[in-house]
Amino acid sequence: MNGLKPFSPNPFFHSMMSVLHFPNLCQGSRPLRSRKQANVECGDATEASRHDGGLKQANVECGDATKASRHDGGLKIPPLDKGWENARVPSWNGADRLQRWQARHLMEVFLSEFNLLLLPGDGIGPEVMAETRRVLEWFNTHGEHQFHLEEDLVGGAAYDVHGVAITDATMEKALQADAVLFGAVGGPKWDEVPYEHRPEAGLLRLRKELQLFANLRPAICYPALADGSPLKREVVEGLDILIVRELTGGVYFGEPKEITETGNGKRAVDTQVYETYEIERIARVAFDLARKRANRVHSAEKRNVMMTGVLWHEVVSRVHEEEFPDVTLEHILADNCAMQLVRWPKQFDVIVTDNLFGDILSDAAAMLTGSLGMLPSASLGAEDDKGRRKALYEPVHGSAPDIAGKGQANPIAMIGSLGMALRYSFGMVQEAELLDRAIADVLAQGLRTADIMAEGMTLVSTRELGQAVLDALAAQARKDAGQAQEALAPKSI
Ligand code: IPM
Ligand code: MG
Repeated sequence: MNGLKPFSPNPFFHSMMSVLHFPNLCQGSRPLRSRKQANVECGDATEASRHDGGLKQANVECGDATKASRHDGGLKIPPLDKGWENARVPSWNGADRLQRWQARHLMEVFLSEFNLLLLPGDGIGPEVMAETRRVLEWFNTHGEHQFHLEEDLVGGAAYDVHGVAITDATMEKALQADAVLFGAVGGPKWDEVPYEHRPEAGLLRLRKELQLFANLRPAICYPALADGSPLKREVVEGLDILIVRELTGGVYFGEPKEITETGNGKRAVDTQVYETYEIERIARVAFDLARKRANRVHSAEKRNVMMTGVLWHEVVSRVHEEEFPDVTLEHILADNCAMQLVRWPKQFDVIVTDNLFGDILSDAAAMLTGSLGMLPSASLGAEDDKGRRKALYEPVHGSAPDIAGKGQANPIAMIGSLGMALRYSFGMVQEAELLDRAIADVLAQGLRTADIMAEGMTLVSTRELGQAVLDALAAQARKDAGQAQEALAPKSI
């Protein structure tokens, strides 16, 4: 594994980093800029060192990724290649591998420290977060990056202590962090708390105040789990859908939002509202990501009954025509989309949709893959003028209060959410790949939590599955290290 301590390169290589030229760096995803990143333009690393303002920032702009960021309305989202859980960098051998290995190490000295805020929340949140924390600690021990971890309360857990679903102090920490890892919130215990203090309000405040408008929800069917899907294997095998959900607008936040007395009962109002810029920026994210995948976008709305649907359709069509004519765009009514998802889901590549439809369609898509317990998600904001981007990573599953505290929860979606953070917030693509492979290994070993249990498999607890991921990480890292050593060994002619 390239980022692991046993094979740290000579510090000399580190110091050479800013004057060497490493075209192969360009094969990876473009890491998001973060506080301590180095600035390396493909093909001219010296250029980068001139602009780092002494901050030792690295900004790896390269190839397609740069192209993808051109039309993103400031989001500059890194490419989400097909099969995010699989190796995303083309396999590399011999001299190529050596060069990449060195280049990677040269960069890493600048990519060392990140602040992560962990918000486990309620229900199974704390259990799955505990396993994810162990994975983070594993990377702290074995990798060259250091994650400073801080944990705080959110949801019902915060309400019990502070009387609110998230405190201002926690919000401040979230705003300052390089990324937030979020577990789950809610449960029957808090059914009676005032609406504005319900556990979900903590999550919604985080999304709104961090301006996390782009929610990426991949639904990928692991081959080992295809039989666990309620749909037939041939319908779901190889499934790889990305739902791009608008996350800070629509009916979730529109005003008025109230229940009033009419004198003849009550009247409840939610307001669905979208403005042009909100639709434009989420459409750009979807088109950008599609270019890195199968190049197809379905835009789902209800223009047959909703004015927001009419505007959505109009804006997505215009953005497509003006900026992404090479991407195949199909408009689909959201109800039809739900039906098509269970009829023949493989027709979809990227689905872009609003906040509410995205909530519903992503649950449906998630279940196609066998279990909600498998799916991670990323919520990203726009890049600021310092190149920083707010980000929150959370599993798609909820708090599952019925199994909370029993050690039955599946930690894979939460650990996978960390994988997305490694990739999208920290530019640690190879570490993310290592983690993805470790998860795939554990599944291949036949280990299953209750939600994905099948005949002939071994039922394990949350902790046991977490431990298996750690063991698989170590095994995969040893394997990679062996390969790196082999590549370094002098070859006889
Ligand atoms: C989700 C959840 C949330 C949502 C809840 C917990 C507020 O269902 O992230 O999909 O509705 O967005
Ligand atoms: Mg939901």
